[in-house]
Amino acid sequence: MGEELENMKKIGVLTSGGDAPGMNAAIRAVVRTAIYKGMKVYGIRRGFQGLMHGDIDQMDAASVGEILHRGGTILNTARAEAFKTEEGIQKALTVLKVFGIEGLVVIGGDGSFRGARDLSQRGFPTIGIPGTIDNDIVCTEVTIGFDTAVNTVLEAINKIRDTVASHERTNIIEVMGRHSGEIAIATAIAGGAEGIIIPEVPVDIDLLCKRIIEGRNRGKTSSIIILAEGAGKAMELEEIIEKRTGMETRATVLGYLQRGGSPSAADIILASRMGYHAVELLENNIGNRVVISKNNKIMDEDINKALAMPSKFNEELFELAMVLSI
Ligand code: F6P
Repeated sequence: MGEELENMKKIGVLTSGGDAPGMNAAIRAVVRTAIYKGMKVYGIRRGFQGLMHGDIDQMDAASVGEILHRGGTILNTARAEAFKTEEGIQKALTVLKVFGIEGLVVIGGDGSFRGARDLSQRGFPTIGIPGTIDNDIVCTEVTIGFDTAVNTVLEAINKIRDTVASHERTNIIEVMGRHSGEIAIATAIAGGAEGIIIPEVPVDIDLLCKRIIEGRNRGKTSSIIILAEGAGKAMELEEIIEKRTGMETRATVLGYLQRGGSPSAADIILASRMGYHAVELLENNIGNRVVISKNNKIMDEDINKALAMPSKFNEELFELAMVLSI
């Protein structure tokens, strides 16, 4: 008979890559679930960079008090180039051994999942939790931070609407998403935008300008165009659109404000459920998994499979945005 593995007793948690509202709720859920299950839990600062340097402290229930409503991540975050080398990975494994940490929860985007996979591949059980405002992780229907970011952008669009309508202008609002139009699509629908430009679909400026002109001819006096950062620069489009439509045009780059702010209830609940699930997996010595949400159920998927999935594009929602934007 094979020897039964004992339940894990010491785990670590880190946040990596771009921060996202709700990451703190995920940290809190990991810490408190681990304590509830009688495990020790360690917070690793500055993502994989801090891991390589042993920037680690034990956490207790109180160390995650008063953080639910805060954006960002109390553990700080970084994009660690050195961790992509074998030397960096080995350094991290040595640190984990020194601290007696047996499993790790990594909260972040797909870059962070590659780090989690690298540790799992070397026999160190690691679980990924999708935390990124971009919602560009294919294996899960939604990522932590997306709902809050969409609401932040919507608030900005509604404010810009006031001035755009008053001045009878066009405003191009550049939102985040280097490779993904998810934020742009969601906010174009929610904000009733007249146009949408995303990296997944080649932009047809002539068609866009034609639609603005047609709208004006029907009596529309102002327009809002949502542009995902990966599809172009708002400042450059400003001039082109003004010239071609003859309508006064302005550009707004929302930038990093989209990453901050109090997480929405939906993000806090999602993060709490995902954090709990991650600890349950580690408790049972299960690693190499990514926590996902499917049909509002929290499940998990193999990291390699998750990373190999071709990038998704929500064509249905994009079409809806286009149909409703006339
Ligand atoms: O991945 C999240 C994200 O906010 C992207 O939308 C954006 O392009 C990128 O991070 C910005 O990264 P950095 O914080 O490294 O400038």
